[in-house]
Amino acid sequence: AIDIAALRGQSGAITLDPGYGNTGSCQSAITFIDGEKGILRYRGYPIEELAEKSTFDEVMYLLIWGDKPSADQLAKFRAQLVEHAGLDERVKKHLEALPATTHPMAVISSVLATLSAYYPSTDDRDEDIVRLLAKFKSLVAWSYRRKKGLDYINPDPNLGYVEDFLNMMFGSYDEATVSAMHQLLILHADHEQNCSTSTVRMVGSSHADVYATMAAGVCALWGPLHGGANQAVIEMLEAIQDDGGDVSKYVTMAKDKESGFKLMGFGHRVYKNFDPRARIIKKAADKVLDALGIDDPSLDIAKQLEQVALEDEFFVARKLYPNVDFYSGIIYRALNIPTDFFTVMFALGRMPGWISQWRELRDENARIHRPRQVYIGPKQRSF
Ligand code: ACO
Repeated sequence: AIDIAALRGQSGAITLDPGYGNTGSCQSAITFIDGEKGILRYRGYPIEELAEKSTFDEVMYLLIWGDKPSADQLAKFRAQLVEHAGLDERVKKHLEALPATTHPMAVISSVLATLSAYYPSTDDRDEDIVRLLAKFKSLVAWSYRRKKGLDYINPDPNLGYVEDFLNMMFGSYDEATVSAMHQLLILHADHEQNCSTSTVRMVGSSHADVYATMAAGVCALWGPLHGGANQAVIEMLEAIQDDGGDVSKYVTMAKDKESGFKLMGFGHRVYKNFDPRARIIKKAADKVLDALGIDDPSLDIAKQLEQVALEDEFFVARKLYPNVDFYSGIIYRALNIPTDFFTVMFALGRMPGWISQWRELRDENARIHRPRQVYIGPKQRSF
């Protein structure tokens, strides 16, 4: 690790790095990515192992507090998540006041930002974190039911985080859905300094309140070049299907920069290889659809699209592979989650990652984030 304190106050040449492709904004002990090899690890554990053997509660704990929880630590964490799961009536009303047509990402980001009014931050950062995780789950479920015109379902203290979330959404859950949901949430839980996480660190570095900081992360995630891609992928697959299913036509269009069309769910700033999360989700999509007895033509179209793109010189030369969002929507849809809720599901999974990065930032008393620029405007002139 570099001695950051020794660097404080030093100024020198400004580097211009549009999109921060080669700029390290922090030192972090949370998530490791090797983009060339397609490796992703949380706190040292390979994502493949976590997706197969852990639960989302364990991964939340691991990311935030750094180690796999002991049985006692996990039991205490789960009990705290239950204790804080309720939503103040005024929070529910706040959400109800928004038009039903509001995009779910606008609903959750705005209501999340106002939670400080009802649950102000305390001196105990860890207590605040658990409360936020618990409330966010209930908020997401309520935003879904409200949009559907359904009644609020109270949290059930006998259920685990994922089971209770599904129960608060749908009023029931089954084994196949629970296991798919754990896996998806785990795969989305952290991804080092991506756009939304960098936003969280940026906002958090000003010591803004934790809810405002996380709401900023939700807003950054919303865009179709980031988490919003999962919604855009399904819309693209549906458009291809409605258009007769000719995937080559769309691959050709994506190569034409003038068309303004990109293959959604393809490409990544860091991975120059298959996104390891996409590999797992692709396999899981087959499994989940099988278990639920669903035949979704979008899955066939997605596989064809992947095959044609991966054999195309344009995509090969630029090392463009399917990313985490390419197959995830197919599973969400099989689980009855509406398309405009896909990115909300991503936010639910990413929340512990954002929190862990925010906690790391605050624990090290990081400097306020303040990049520089290269000015290219007019020289001094008289008004
Ligand atoms: N379809 C067609 N061409 C693409 C795609 C794509 N999906 N992605 C990148 N390219 C091309 C670019 O046009 C560029 O070509 P050039 O070198 O001839 O100019 C080259 O590949 C490199 O792309 P950049 O835009 O420089 O890559 P960057 O790292 O800035 O962007 C991003 C990464 C945003 C993910 C991009 O690949 C993209 O827009 N993909 C589609 C949206 C998407 O799936 N986003 C989700 C990402 S995962 C996540 O955030 C959870």
